[in-house]
Amino acid sequence: MEDNKKIKGFSKLSKRGKIKWIVENFFKDPENVTREMLSYWHSNEDQQKILDGFSENTISNFPMPYGVAPNFEINGKTYCVPMVIEESSVVAAASSAAKFWMARGGFKTEILSTTKLGQVSFKWSGSKEAFKGNFDKIKTKLIAECKQITANMEKRGGGINDIELIDLTDREKDLFQLKCSFETCDSMGANFINSCLEQFAKSLISYVEETAELKEGELNVIMCILSNYTPDCIVRAKVECPVAELGSFPGEMTAEIFAERFKDAVTIAHLDSYRATTHNKGIFNGVDAVVLATGNDFRAIEACGHTYASRNGSYRSLSYCKVEDGIFSFWLDLPLAVGTVGGLTSLHPMAKRSLELLGNPNSKELMEIIAATGLAQNFAALRSLVTTGIQKGHMKMHLQNILVSLNATEKEIPNAVEYFKEKVVSFSAVREFLEKLRSGKQIIA
Ligand code: MEV
Repeated sequence: MEDNKKIKGFSKLSKRGKIKWIVENFFKDPENVTREMLSYWHSNEDQQKILDGFSENTISNFPMPYGVAPNFEINGKTYCVPMVIEESSVVAAASSAAKFWMARGGFKTEILSTTKLGQVSFKWSGSKEAFKGNFDKIKTKLIAECKQITANMEKRGGGINDIELIDLTDREKDLFQLKCSFETCDSMGANFINSCLEQFAKSLISYVEETAELKEGELNVIMCILSNYTPDCIVRAKVECPVAELGSFPGEMTAEIFAERFKDAVTIAHLDSYRATTHNKGIFNGVDAVVLATGNDFRAIEACGHTYASRNGSYRSLSYCKVEDGIFSFWLDLPLAVGTVGGLTSLHPMAKRSLELLGNPNSKELMEIIAATGLAQNFAALRSLVTTGIQKGHMKMHLQNILVSLNATEKEIPNAVEYFKEKVVSFSAVREFLEKLRSGKQIIA
């Protein structure tokens, strides 16, 4: 690597110092880049300090569009859902599906379970039988010695649910785990769980040291960490209506044909992992956007969702569809470990506003809103795919983006939209159209 690209003590530089070093060593036009980086600093210093506090080596902010999808009726209550996403069409699709289902009874959701998990991984070289024989006493000690950490959570109705001993010695010599389950109420619970796990490890070590029967073995704690896989923290979101009420569709397509084709599209995503990945990506278009807007951890939600989608041995659709006795049903089961207190939810000014916009839901209600948004997104994508195809809507937005980047005027935009109604949109085709329009060679509508 070139020497000017290496640096010692970067983190010690001031923000301006960091920008200076970066623009001088990595960019061709340092002045412009500096101006651009500074232009995204928050005008309010206190707000900027809050943002800087979330990460390290921050030099600027990275703005993302903050949109809303109104008309989400969930269990009879109407929400305007905040969505942070950079992909065009997603918010429009969610809004359109929300409106569609609002006229057909809305979304129905239910929380199936809310258990979160953590693991203490350790090696035990002594007698398995002796260790297992002591496990009830070990468990009692672990829970008792964790009281200081759990007291507050218990007041809120949460705490430790259970601690199980998992024997993995058939896969790796001497390897065991404590599989610990928790109820963390309205917090996502990462800090709470990790603190409990580290305390469990200390108590486990002292139990072994104090117990004569276990003296001949060696205990080595490897690590303590929550699991982001929470297959017992599940929400179900559902929509349902008579097939005849699904409305009218382009061309020859009847509501019955639409329902069957839609169901086939879901079936394909249950049979084929290539399609399932794209299908579920569509669900996460909606899920991630709300997770981000409410200051939750989208990496954890994605990782968990994809593991859950593979729980039966192959990667499959997270949503299901049934057409039976003239009724169209479409639903989604999703593990969602989210919080409405703690973490970024109360620190990020816009996350706070998002929660306010949603009526300050508790974590269960937020799980329901997120799942409904994921289902809406999935519905909108499949509806397009089995009717007009996805490109029609996408190309509209693509055309708008190209027109903006080519500085099209208010007068030119409707002309371009009309011209490209039935034509293939590409950057060069749009540029050519505008050039002709501007030189008078293209007729204005
Ligand atoms: C694009 O972001 C999402 C879709 O590909 C989802 C799907 O194919 O179901 C449209």
